[in-house]
Amino acid sequence: MPTDLAIQAKGLVKRFGSVVAVNGLDLGVEPGITYGLLGPNGSGKTTLVRLLLGVILPNEGSITVMGRRVPDRVLRSQMGYMPQSLALYEDLTVTENVSFYARLMDAYSPPRVEETIQLVDMASRARSAVSTLSGGMKRRVSLACALVHRPVMLFLDEPTVGVDPQLRAQFWDHFQRLNQQGVTIVVCTHVMDEAERCTRLGLLHQGRLLAEGTARELRARAGAETLEEAFLRFSSQ
Ligand SMILES: Nc1ncnc2c1ncn2[C@@H]1O[C@H](COP(=O)(O)OP(=O)(O)OP(=O)(O)O)[C@@H](O)[C@H]1O
Ligand SMILES: [Mg+2]
Repeated sequence: MPTDLAIQAKGLVKRFGSVVAVNGLDLGVEPGITYGLLGPNGSGKTTLVRLLLGVILPNEGSITVMGRRVPDRVLRSQMGYMPQSLALYEDLTVTENVSFYARLMDAYSPPRVEETIQLVDMASRARSAVSTLSGGMKRRVSLACALVHRPVMLFLDEPTVGVDPQLRAQFWDHFQRLNQQGVTIVVCTHVMDEAERCTRLGLLHQGRLLAEGTARELRARAGAETLEEAFLRFSSQ
C-alpha cells in the first residue's frame, strides 16, 4: 500500500515463549521527525525497535519502512542502530570500531570515519582501545558507529544513559540537525526532558501503544502538568 509514512506497522505481535512482548501494535511515523518511545521496563520498546529494524521477525503483522516491506537488505544499509547494550569491540580502538561498522555497511572511507569521530567529539581518543574509555565515551563511539554510513533512518535505544548533561544536549542538538536533513529518528528513553524534545511520543504499556501525540497533547489529555505525571496517569488507567 503506498504511504507517505516513513514507518508503518500494523497488527504487530511478538512473542517470546509465553511472554507477549509486543501485543497487537499499530504505528505510523512521519519522515524527518523524532519519534520517542516511552514506557516502563519490559513494555516492549527494545523489541519494537528490533522488529522495525528487521533484526527479529514478528509472529503477526507487517512493517513497511520507506515503502519497503521489512526485512529488506536495501533497507538495512539505510538504517542506523544504537543498541541499548553497546555492541563495541573492547580490544579495538575507536577508529577501528567505527571503521568496522562503516565496512559492514559498505560505506568505508578514512575521511568519513574521521569526520564521524569528530562529530561525537572523540578525535582526541581515536587511537584508544574502547576498553580504556569511560562509559559516556563508549556511548559516543556507539553513536558514531550508528551514524558512520549516513543512515536516513536512525534507531536509538536509550542513547544517553550515563551521558553527562552537556554531551546529552549536544546529542540532541545533533538529532535535531539530522531531522532537518530529513533523517527519521526513533528513540527509546526514560528521560522526560528528552521526551519533551521529541516531535511525537508513543507511550508503550505491556506491548501496546497506550497513548500517542506530542508532549503537549499528552499532558493536556491526561490533565497533567508534567509529562512524567501524564505518563503515570496513562499507565495506571
Ligand atoms: N530475546 C528475548 N527472549 C525472551 N524474552 C525477551 C527477549 N527480548 C525481550 N524479551 C521480553 O520481552 C518483554 C519486553 O522486553 P523489552 O526489552 O522489549 O522491553 P523494554 O521496554 O525495552 O524495557 P527496558 O526499559 O527495560 O529497556 C520483556 O518481558 C522481556 O523479558
Ligand atoms: Mg529496552
